[in-house]
Amino acid sequence: MTSPAASTLVLTGANRGIGLELARRFLAAGGWRIHAGCRDPESADALAELARTHPDRLTVHPLEVTDAASVSAFAASLGDTPVDLLLNNAGMLNPHQTLDDIDFDAWERELQVNTLAPMRMALALRPQLRRAGNPRIVTISSQMGSLARPRSGSYAYRSSKAAVNKAMQGLALDLQGEGICVVVMHPGWVRTDMGGASAEIDPQESAAGIFSVATKLTLADTGRFLQWNGEEHPW
Ligand SMILES: NC(=O)c1ccc[n+]([C@@H]2O[C@H](COP(=O)([O-])OP(=O)(O)OC[C@H]3O[C@@H](n4cnc5c(N)ncnc54)[C@H](OP(=O)(O)O)[C@@H]3O)[C@@H](O)[C@H]2O)c1
Repeated sequence: MTSPAASTLVLTGANRGIGLELARRFLAAGGWRIHAGCRDPESADALAELARTHPDRLTVHPLEVTDAASVSAFAASLGDTPVDLLLNNAGMLNPHQTLDDIDFDAWERELQVNTLAPMRMALALRPQLRRAGNPRIVTISSQMGSLARPRSGSYAYRSSKAAVNKAMQGLALDLQGEGICVVVMHPGWVRTDMGGASAEIDPQESAAGIFSVATKLTLADTGRFLQWNGEEHPW
């Protein structure tokens, strides 16, 4: 039986990388009911195994975060369940972002996934978030979107994360009156398909840090840009 006191997590991009470790971390902590979204549940073997071993605490949903119909079907499937934490984790980084090799179509796609989708998810789940006692929206951004760190290259990725930071900063102000805390987080440079083998930390460390930060957030934190280790990140 699910404990009536369980908090509800909505997690996107849960089938691999940081998202999969976040699902594992929240399950290990106990007290959380997880609705995990992924594009293709049929091929999400590791996530399906988690759902099989935790049938009352993890439900896998098909969720393509750039597709309005998919997002609204997902939100509708939650009914009036209060959502305590929305973790916008799904993201992409296309390989064609240098001056000699810019793929503008991929850049547009990246904006859809990294910038528009977190807003789409937040607005779709706003009714369920408003029903929770301490609702939080955490969007996994990146240090690569920080305007305080002048860097070149990765034009699509950097601009998509800078843009989602700005969108979430505004959302924090707009949703403050509804009691919803909105933050963005840098998860560290993480050894995933995206981060690569030479990245600094493993997904377990990143997920543990994000868990620790996200579960302690209150409305007093709204509008912050934080790192997985709890430190502030410059905008
Ligand atoms: N790894 C790092 O060093 C690092 C650093 C800074 C920020 N981040 C951010 O951390 C988050 C997770 O990254 P990661 O390293 O775990 O990446 P990853 O291993 O490449 O995993 C990306 C996840 O996002 C999902 N996704 C991509 N497009 C999607 C869409 N349109 N709809 C639904 N799901 C979609 C993927 O699903 P599929 O399997 O279906 O593709 C996958 O589950 C991202 O937002 C990323 O930008 C990562």
